[in-house]
Amino acid sequence: MWDIQLFKLNFDQREIDAVSSVVAGGWLAMGEKVTNFETQFSQFLGGDVFCSAVANCTAALHMGLLALEVGRGDEVIIPSLTFVADVNVVNLVGATPVLADCTSLKDWNMSVETIEKQITPRTKAIIVVHYAGFPCRDIVEISQLCRERGIGLIEDVAHAPGAIVNGKACGTFGDVGCFSFFSNKNLSIGEGGMISTTNAELNIKLQLLRCHGMTTLTLDRHKGRAITYDVAMPGLNYRMDEMRAAIGSVQLDKLPAANFRRGQLTERYRSNLRGSSVKIPFDNQPPSLGSVYHILPVLIPGHVDRVAVIEELKEKKIQSSIHYPPFWDFTAYQGQFCPNDSPITADICSRQLTLPLFPTMTEDEVDKVCDALLEALG
Ligand SMILES: Cc1ncc(COP(=O)(O)O)c(C=O)c1O
Repeated sequence: MWDIQLFKLNFDQREIDAVSSVVAGGWLAMGEKVTNFETQFSQFLGGDVFCSAVANCTAALHMGLLALEVGRGDEVIIPSLTFVADVNVVNLVGATPVLADCTSLKDWNMSVETIEKQITPRTKAIIVVHYAGFPCRDIVEISQLCRERGIGLIEDVAHAPGAIVNGKACGTFGDVGCFSFFSNKNLSIGEGGMISTTNAELNIKLQLLRCHGMTTLTLDRHKGRAITYDVAMPGLNYRMDEMRAAIGSVQLDKLPAANFRRGQLTERYRSNLRGSSVKIPFDNQPPSLGSVYHILPVLIPGHVDRVAVIEELKEKKIQSSIHYPPFWDFTAYQGQFCPNDSPITADICSRQLTLPLFPTMTEDEVDKVCDALLEALG
């Protein structure tokens, strides 16, 4: 259907071999491949980080809120520009989501100022998203603020595995970091995620939450290391299986080169569109911020009919998307939020467009997308 789709898997024979080896090995449930993937991921984040592989990033966010004991009567500050998972999990633990606006039309992440405006005595936690793989530039100050005020900090790193701030990995600044390995992410497994923490006590809680609160795994009993188990606290089943972990390990090996390639392609988009009516955010980032370029978001002029542009790209077999439709337009959240409270996000949401970006994309494909977009904009 598409000549240039939004995203393409970066898979080859290695992923096929990884899955085959698990099937041939005969152990499918959470086991040694998961442990290996977690160890590898911890090293990727700089070491000295506890990592637990989970079913997906939404599970990780839910576990993070439960581990921080966020519940009824609490407020959680989240970005007004993000995927709906963040607002859903806060609602589902019974807390109230409070939206913080983007920093500016050039920096779509929250800032310490946009967050501070929303802090009340009921603020129990903050979820920071590193939008599109661009690290939140105030993450160090935000983490300091959270420590000083006794507020929990959850980093939603769904877009940003490998992003760094001052040499430190995103996902290690808060109490927990939540990663997504959904198909279209920088590290693709299909469904999968990781939760990271540098806090040993919190890590124990997270491991219990992931697996019914049980103190031993099925693998421990299979290997004769345990006969039975205790349940230390109520928990869920948010485990990852061995096939996914095996793919994850291969994808993690490929990630640094894939992220680098995404950066080169982003630069090509920037130079092609420079001087046009199309604006790409996060330009001229300071060298202390290392991005991983998850998606290619642009802003088109306000007077342009965005749906017509998407349709025109579609006619040329080029896929595009929107990241994100605003919460206040969703049926589930009617009346809960007001666009006037997040004016920058409201403006971005009305004219944002996401263009194709994936590591196996060619420069020629980038040029074709840019030509088609400029043509559609007249
Ligand atoms: C910012 C953000 N947070 C959370 C999620 C949820 O991830 P998952 O699909 O792994 O649950 C996504 C997925 O697209 C996302 O983009």
